[in-house]
Amino acid sequence: MPSANENPTRSIVSIADLSKDEILSLLKLAAYFEEHPNSRLLDGKVVATLFFEPSTRTRLSFETAVNRLGGRIIGFSDPAATSTSKGETLKDTIKMVANYVDLIVMRHYLEGAARYASEVTEVPVINAGDGAHQHPSQTMLDLYSIFKTQGRLDDITVTMVGDLKYGRTVHSLLMALSHFRVKFNFVACDELRMPEEFRTFCDRNGIEYRESTDFSPEIIASTDILYMTRVQRERFTDLMEYERVKDLYNLDARMLDVAPDNLRVLHPLPRVNEIDQDVDDSPKAYYFQQAKNGLFARQAMICTALGIKVPADIH
Ligand code: CP
Repeated sequence: MPSANENPTRSIVSIADLSKDEILSLLKLAAYFEEHPNSRLLDGKVVATLFFEPSTRTRLSFETAVNRLGGRIIGFSDPAATSTSKGETLKDTIKMVANYVDLIVMRHYLEGAARYASEVTEVPVINAGDGAHQHPSQTMLDLYSIFKTQGRLDDITVTMVGDLKYGRTVHSLLMALSHFRVKFNFVACDELRMPEEFRTFCDRNGIEYRESTDFSPEIIASTDILYMTRVQRERFTDLMEYERVKDLYNLDARMLDVAPDNLRVLHPLPRVNEIDQDVDDSPKAYYFQQAKNGLFARQAMICTALGIKVPADIH
């Protein structure tokens, strides 16, 4: 039973688990944590970060978020150093860890792994990325970054470039932005085209989108948010195909000459070579601030998953 200071706990596995109102509440909470990053809201709570796949930003920002909220962290970033390497199943790993902690943050290479984890334990689970499927905490920080840079989430044009097939961040972001009035450009080669499932989702929800294999100045000139992505080498079964497509889309500073003043370049990171280093000095480059926003968005998600009520002055 939650106490007077707590709401029920909840897992956040897919961005589709969140209503528009819940998304807006999380954004408000993220803004609160940007102003008040340090507190004791997680006093006495222990959070596990279970990373079955590599990560820099997601794991470290979740762990920083817990530390800044006064909680404690256990977990692993190298599954080879755990009993997984002896054949322990995901179910048993989750049930074991759930004995020790109040919240599990998990990244896994299999699509659906986070949902499965949330079904085998009462402890809430936050999906930190499952295969090519979903990355809801990335989406919350992306939404927060869009809101901060554009001052709104409605009436914007978002251009997604690169690996739209395997890039879980674009899939989650597309679903979240379906709550708002957003137009999309999908720029990708045929091999990395936005999957049919998400094109159908757009059609069913009346979302306007245009597909192009050409990363043209005309597209950049009509864009508010330019969302670059890395070609996800780890998802290819045929590495020859990866070699064929890995360098097709690259942004350099000169290409931004035609961009409107309000355009901002986002990228979930890590980048490989899809954004030239010369873009970093442009006032339109926002990807490092975007990653910093992850701290505040994840503090908001942790408190929501744990059912922790934040100070009433933000409402
Ligand atoms: N954007 C993102 O998920 O980065 P990491 O893989 O470094 O966590």
